[in-house]
Amino acid sequence: MNKGRIYFALFFVVYLVVVYGAACSQDESIAAKNGAEKTEIKSSEVKAAPSAEVQEEAVEKIEVKSIDVQAELDNNHPPIEPGFSCVDCHEINLDGNTTATQNWLYAETPGKEANEGVMPEDVLLKEVRKAIGGIKTASKTFVLGTSMNNRPLTTTAEFTLDPEKMVLYGFHEQGTEKLAHIKKNPYVSMNYHKEFESFDVFLCCQILGRAELIDGENPEYEQLIIKLLPYEDGARVPKDATPKQREDHLRKFRQGLKKGFYISKITIDRLTLINLDMVKQGYRRVQRWERKK
Ligand code: HEC
Repeated sequence: MNKGRIYFALFFVVYLVVVYGAACSQDESIAAKNGAEKTEIKSSEVKAAPSAEVQEEAVEKIEVKSIDVQAELDNNHPPIEPGFSCVDCHEINLDGNTTATQNWLYAETPGKEANEGVMPEDVLLKEVRKAIGGIKTASKTFVLGTSMNNRPLTTTAEFTLDPEKMVLYGFHEQGTEKLAHIKKNPYVSMNYHKEFESFDVFLCCQILGRAELIDGENPEYEQLIIKLLPYEDGARVPKDATPKQREDHLRKFRQGLKKGFYISKITIDRLTLINLDMVKQGYRRVQRWERKK
């Protein structure tokens, strides 16, 4: 063997060792990474399974401080699993003084001193009744916003106001998406809005509330449809029916409704009425009613 060949053989051995060693350490690091990923997946399975129950349960166990709406995460923040957002764990403090609505409600604005033109509650409730009151076919169509797993959904539905209790009742076919939302999360937001005509005529009513579902088994159900809800049109009572036949027909129809429809009862917690007409009476165009706790 000449010297050249010996050097080449040595070089080849060293080369093999280096390449093999590198390959091994790469394997190790891949293995380590996989391990980490595995444990990560495992912990996320435990903490943040997509189901709402698991999320709610996890959230309930943590006691956390409320944060400002502008708050940001810093490096000391506990890890957040996928599917969670700030509001799942923290209450968010909205600084109401800087919002546009707050200004319209109470601040000094052209033609109004601070807190001037705020309606007394009884006057406001009359305005509310004018805007969204009315039973049976005078019920109003609202946009209803529900939310589940941080995904909002809006639907339209008719609602009838009980102005004494400040509660709205709606009528909904079973098995729809919004009802699934309400069962998981009772907090809803609603809006009634008069159709656009021009920018100097407007009337709308924004509501925050809590929804519950009343099923046909509940004794309240039948009373609510009889007194408030516009169900008669759907019953298609024959035109030539006698009053007694009509009553029988309606009674049967109500029994059918109990099986296929829920009544939603929405307890209004906050209602904001915007109506330019109120300015003519010397009040602000934006007024708010809040349920006393
Ligand atoms: C899974 C629950 C969870 C989620 C989701 C979450 N946090 Fe937190 N956060 C905590 C816990 C636990 C603490 C520590 C305890 C505490 O300070 O209340 C904390 C603390 C904080 C603090 C420090 C509070 C203080 O006054 O010391 C801030 C700021 C914060 N989080 C912001 C956020 C923001 C912004 C988001 C959304 C991007 C968020 N958090 C999402 C659980 C969560």
